[in-house]
Amino acid sequence: MPRVIVISGAVGALGTALCRYLVERGYRVAGVGLARHAERLRKLEQELGAGFAGFPLQEDSTAAWDAALGAVSARLGPISGAALVAGGWRGGRRFHEEGDEDTWRSMLDENLESAQRALRALLPRLVAQRAGSVVVIGSRNVERPWSGAGAAAYTVAKSAVVALARVIAAEVLDAGVRVNAVLPSTIDTAANRGAMPDADASRWVEPESVAAVIEFLLSDAARDVSGAVVPVYGRA
Ligand SMILES: NC(=O)c1ccc[n+]([C@@H]2O[C@H](COP(=O)([O-])OP(=O)(O)OC[C@H]3O[C@@H](n4cnc5c(N)ncnc54)[C@H](OP(=O)(O)O)[C@@H]3O)[C@@H](O)[C@H]2O)c1
Repeated sequence: MPRVIVISGAVGALGTALCRYLVERGYRVAGVGLARHAERLRKLEQELGAGFAGFPLQEDSTAAWDAALGAVSARLGPISGAALVAGGWRGGRRFHEEGDEDTWRSMLDENLESAQRALRALLPRLVAQRAGSVVVIGSRNVERPWSGAGAAAYTVAKSAVVALARVIAAEVLDAGVRVNAVLPSTIDTAANRGAMPDADASRWVEPESVAAVIEFLLSDAARDVSGAVVPVYGRA
């Protein structure tokens, strides 16, 4: 039976590359996104064919995630794993120069709370079936917080996501569920090329390269790996 993998942030740059990578390798992929992603999820269904199905959330909540996961299981079969790719970046000002909490709140919501809501719905299912693998996406800033100068909120949010993953990994280990994190440096995306036109993009990490590491962590080849924090830096 094909393995069923849930992806959040499926319509983003890395998310789309990961969905494509997994479908090409015979996985069945469920892209769970916000209501505003429904149209882009539908386009991805058309592009990727029967191996991919989109599940827009009714609202951004754990209850909506739980309902979406119920729909995924009913349509595709038991969920073997998930990659929580949803996230965002805002920065450019030093912490003491930010006059309000907008950036702080949005970074915590997009990077930490989005993963927290998904995990709250996912983990009871995986623990009940006593099998599953989850991958969260951090950032190199987690290991090098000083490189997040000018992006404190993002750095804190990603550090918290990775800390959450490591705590949970210990909590669910005996239930046969694995939780790992990857830390990309700079991914070679259209957005990054637009934002950094003078940078040497050949030193960045291809989305497919990050996807391959995530696929390894989701697979049985990594059955003895949990609580790992894997740098995926390329030459950046
Ligand atoms: N790009 C990099 O160099 C880099 C480096 C290190 C880590 N990362 C991390 O890798 C992941 C993917 O990056 P990317 O470059 O593919 O970014 P991306 O293209 O912006 O994709 C991220 C997706 O997540 C969605 N999203 C944002 N907040 C959400 C929420 N609360 N709930 C559900 N979905 C939400 C975004 O929706 P909208 O399209 O509507 O905004 C977007 O589609 C992110 O977690 C990012 O922080 C990226």
